[in-house]
Amino acid sequence: MSTLLIKGGTVVSTTGRVEADVLVDGEHVVALIAPGTEPFGPVTADTTIDATGKFVLPGGVDAHTHMEMPFGGTNASDTFETGTRAAAWGGTTTIIDFAVQYAGQSVMEQYALWHEKAGGNCAIDYGFHQILSDVQDESLVAMDELVHEGVTSFKLFMAYKGVLLSDDGQILRAFQKGAENGALMMMHAENGAVIDVLVQQALAENHTTPYYHGISRPWQAEEEATHRAIMIADIAGAPLYVVHVSAKQAVEQIAAARDRGSNVFGETCPQYLYLSLEEQLAAVSEQWGDLEGAKWVCSTPLRSRHEGHQHHLWQSLRTNDIQMVSTDHCPFCMKEQKEMGRGDFSKIPNGIGSVEHRMDLMYQGVVTGQITLERFVELTSTTPARMFGLYGRKGVIAPGADADIVIYDPAGHTSIGMGKTHHMNMDYSAWEGFEIDGHVDIVLSRGTVIVDERGYVGRAGHGQYVKRGLSQYLI
Ligand code: URP
Ligand code: ZN
Ligand code: ZN
Repeated sequence: MSTLLIKGGTVVSTTGRVEADVLVDGEHVVALIAPGTEPFGPVTADTTIDATGKFVLPGGVDAHTHMEMPFGGTNASDTFETGTRAAAWGGTTTIIDFAVQYAGQSVMEQYALWHEKAGGNCAIDYGFHQILSDVQDESLVAMDELVHEGVTSFKLFMAYKGVLLSDDGQILRAFQKGAENGALMMMHAENGAVIDVLVQQALAENHTTPYYHGISRPWQAEEEATHRAIMIADIAGAPLYVVHVSAKQAVEQIAAARDRGSNVFGETCPQYLYLSLEEQLAAVSEQWGDLEGAKWVCSTPLRSRHEGHQHHLWQSLRTNDIQMVSTDHCPFCMKEQKEMGRGDFSKIPNGIGSVEHRMDLMYQGVVTGQITLERFVELTSTTPARMFGLYGRKGVIAPGADADIVIYDPAGHTSIGMGKTHHMNMDYSAWEGFEIDGHVDIVLSRGTVIVDERGYVGRAGHGQYVKRGLSQYLI
């Protein structure tokens, strides 16, 4: 086994920062050493990395991705190979992707299919959540099997009728199983029936542009569904994690449940913190005309800045009303994919690609004073690891942990956009023109350097499947 010493950096955790050298042996961190001390004689290593002036961060854990997901009549454009490579570029060293069971399919067959897609192709480690749609008796049996396989979280949908939607009775049954076997239940909380009517009404009035995607998915539909999911989880006694929260009213529902002592958690995404209905969904460009906004069609939708959702979401990250930030990486190209929705916004495949940029975008929140450096580590690495049963191995730089480490330069700079920093398999960047006052210099995955000054130096197949335990975040 070869040894590696990361010297002179500032190691950051959720509780503070220390000047320490980090000794890696093979795939694991074995020691943090105060600089200038020689506790057991001089520390030598096969390789040394100089991290002077840099932050030494636990690798990012992105707990919400959809690599090559069949959705909206097409497939998400990143494969496990291209998507995990892009993640590595941006300092994310673990993803948790969603295996999908569509209505009528077998849960276990779909789970096996996701292993086939990911196996041997990933640049970084990966785990799975399982999406359940029509919850049958067989699905409940599969939930027990999957928990033993290390799939300890299940996502259900309150929207997308006939494709992914589960009715309230099905949701209750799945939640009851979660309460029994300890799995964390995840919810796409939007009132699908209400949205379907609003979409049809908008189209009937010839409101066909991407802006109306946002208008037909109002915050009330998110708040109502979030409340309903919380109530069903309460009846079942199951812990609940609400994905991609974008409305401030949904945050308030989660906060109220938490104040009552319930195991209810929320995730938001960079797009809901930075982007808006007015600026992105209503955008017009020379190339795409009023289809430009399709670049940012995702669900839940981008919300009105005028209504203050973005401001409230940043605040909720500070107060821990929202516990973590994932990407919901679900990329589509404009050509032949998003453009399927020209003249009908409801045909635009829903999703935004961000897996490469989450760490940088959230670090910029440190630069602008929205969150502290320690909170940044908590939101992007430590809490995702704890929430989804990976902590100890992931989410921390400590003896025994996997050496998933990012050396981040606070004096560096990152310009996001096509031809600049863009390695996702998309023909546009949802983050074009964003400037970051920091830079991912070096990325290690289980002790192997996979990104450095030469660029990406990892390989497809280095990434391994991680079997997860039960959530380590429950109260
Ligand atoms: O628009 C989105 N979020 N696409 C991905 C699927 C989902 O609902 O997470
Ligand atoms: Zn969703
Ligand atoms: Zn998603």
